[in-house]
Amino acid sequence: MANPTGYPELDALLPRLDAIPSLEVDALASELIAVLGRKNGALTEALKSVASLPMDQRKGYGAAVNGLKASFEAAFAARRESLDTDRQRQEAAGVDLTMPARRRWVGSEHPVTRVVDEIVEIFRGIGFTVAVGPEVETDWYNFTALNFPEDHPAMDMHDTLYVDAPPVAGEQGGRLLLRTHTSPVQIRAMLESAPPVRVIIPGLVYRNDPFDASHAPAFSQIEGLAVDEGISFVDLKATLIHFAHRFFSSSTKVRFRPSFFPFTEPSAEMDVECQLCHGSGCPACKGTGWMEILGCGMVHPAVFEHSGIDAERYTGWAFGMGPHRIAMLRYGVPDIRLLYEGDMRFLEQFVPGGRRGSGARPERSEGAAGQG
Ligand code: PHE
Repeated sequence: MANPTGYPELDALLPRLDAIPSLEVDALASELIAVLGRKNGALTEALKSVASLPMDQRKGYGAAVNGLKASFEAAFAARRESLDTDRQRQEAAGVDLTMPARRRWVGSEHPVTRVVDEIVEIFRGIGFTVAVGPEVETDWYNFTALNFPEDHPAMDMHDTLYVDAPPVAGEQGGRLLLRTHTSPVQIRAMLESAPPVRVIIPGLVYRNDPFDASHAPAFSQIEGLAVDEGISFVDLKATLIHFAHRFFSSSTKVRFRPSFFPFTEPSAEMDVECQLCHGSGCPACKGTGWMEILGCGMVHPAVFEHSGIDAERYTGWAFGMGPHRIAMLRYGVPDIRLLYEGDMRFLEQFVPGGRRGSGARPERSEGAAGQG
């Protein structure tokens, strides 16, 4: 605290003198006017009042006012100088204090996250439970237990990275790899609990695929599995049609085409009516009016055998779909890389209430669920 002057009305100003070193630019300017301003400045007024004092008091009071005025002037000058230095330092560091503040981003779910959540919710609504498994899998779960014969051509699509780590104690299988599909979690779910089994399995999978407009080396899948007594292909079709009607629209047409997977027999691929042209044919569906969204089939007896389930007593079905691909179909995203890049100009379109994607259309795929 600055030294008292002995005059109460002057001493009342001392806290303000002490506050000057912490004033910012605007407050400093208005305080300068309030204290030293020519018209109504507190010290200017005090100086004026000297003239009306009795002679014997003028000298002492005048000296006190002038001393205080000098202290204020020095404090104002010092503070201005330090603010100037700060500003110069910030300018030198590339900080422009006159730049307008940034608009706040409104956050929202990524379109793929939204698709995954919606699909999982639809299956939870009909009695399925969510299950997850490791992304680093053993070759036994990823291939052997799923009835892939060694060197089978079906494995060509499932080329992946092998992980150079010792096998995990208690796990079946030798080599560790980045899983190429969510199907190994079928085996884990069946080994973990006896039928009836109804699980929905979201997760990331990896393949040696180029990163181009319709492929990515890491992408999402959602697997479904139902095992019980008396389950038939009719249940599979009815469940997937229910899903398509809930997820797309209640009038969306679907069709099943015969296909092949080592772990299902019979196997099929399900197409939905093209969401962009509604069946009349457009570049997105290559004029066919249909888009492939998943692979499915009845669980192969060999898979039951590896999972400790009596294939004479139980039957089941499974499917696998690709949420990245489904998000592209639903929102008309022309290039899968847009779903990975995190470009706000793209993602902003998915803010609730905002504009939804439009534009050129993705390539139609063949083959594996979620990726051709
Ligand atoms: N796992 C298969 C794939 O990624 C998809 C699939 C899952 C097919 C379940 C049938 C049953 O290609």
